[in-house]
Amino acid sequence: MYKHTSFLRSNEIVQDLTVMTSSKTSAFFVKISITIWFIMLQLCPGQPRAELGTTPNIKHIVVGRCYAYVTLLSDSPRYDCEEIWRQFEEAVARQSSCNVTVEDYSHMFNAMPEIWPCDRFLFWSKTRTLMHSYAAVFRHFWTLEDTLVGYMFNDLVWCGQEEDSGFDFNSCPKWSVCRNHPVYSLWRQASQNFAEMACGNITVLLNGSIANAFNRKSMFGSVELDSLNPQRLDYVNIKVVTNPDGPHVESCTQGSIVDLIQILRSRGFHWTCTDDDQTLRILQCLQDPKQSSCQTQANGL
Ligand SMILES: *[C@@H]1O[C@H](CO)[C@@H](O)[C@H](O)[C@H]1NC(C)=O
Ligand SMILES: *[C@@H]1O[C@H](CO)[C@@H](O)[C@H](O)[C@H]1NC(C)=O
Ligand SMILES: *[C@@H]1O[C@H](CO)[C@@H](O)[C@H](O)[C@H]1NC(C)=O
Repeated sequence: MYKHTSFLRSNEIVQDLTVMTSSKTSAFFVKISITIWFIMLQLCPGQPRAELGTTPNIKHIVVGRCYAYVTLLSDSPRYDCEEIWRQFEEAVARQSSCNVTVEDYSHMFNAMPEIWPCDRFLFWSKTRTLMHSYAAVFRHFWTLEDTLVGYMFNDLVWCGQEEDSGFDFNSCPKWSVCRNHPVYSLWRQASQNFAEMACGNITVLLNGSIANAFNRKSMFGSVELDSLNPQRLDYVNIKVVTNPDGPHVESCTQGSIVDLIQILRSRGFHWTCTDDDQTLRILQCLQDPKQSSCQTQANGL
């Protein structure tokens, strides 16, 4: 969603990258790096705030984002933002804070049907920062955060309480201690809808610097993968990306990614897997040019 707030800026990145590949002077490179660095800082997401209470002003934020999305960012059918909020409130407010199921959100999701074009779906796990810059550069990619529901609820915290306003603004439980955490249930359903809609070619960004890059407990491994439909998909294109200076723990032929490929095979998906995507490497080096393997890249330009 951060790429939306910096629409014009992401155009700048694309232009700057074009300049970069056609220019060999290091002065250019430095100037461009700084520009992009600056943009990257703005793209960086905040820390999750699971131990805090419901985000203050949540109603204004959610309804405001909904109007911004519907009015400024999409030419989608008219959504009724007030109605979506009403259904959200109905699901969460005045419930005990660990007792909101996926089904409780069904009226809200019914109020916001979404359709996305094929070949644009980007999935990711443990690569959030890089995913944001990748999606910002290649603007045709769609992540969950580009959908209406993702855009409206990104980075927010909420939970109910039985009296007062219906929301607990003082504290919310962590995901791990709840069976039916209100935030988890919403993201679970949103992720499932997103994966069920996926069609054409999809891209999956995984982090090869950690063990279990493909983790069956992650949202991708536990919800999205099972919701992908081999009949709707042409290719699952996996991109494994490690930190420039390592560690290099997993790859297309090593570790949990082999398990992922096995699952894809057995379910009849076509797939590809890449370990050394050049574009991703350049993006990483722009984010952190001091890494020693990036120095070599810079000299080579
Ligand atoms: C949880 O919700 C269900 C149905 O909404 C309700 O019957 C049950 O009493 C609730 N449990 C708690 C602990 O609030
Ligand atoms: C991989 O995960 C580690 C640990 O969470 C993180 O520090 C690193 O930035 C991630 N790498 C990429 C390429 O996203
Ligand atoms: C889909 O992915 C396959 C395999 O990576 C590639 O050959 C093909 O060109 C892609 N098609 C589109 C429309 O991007």
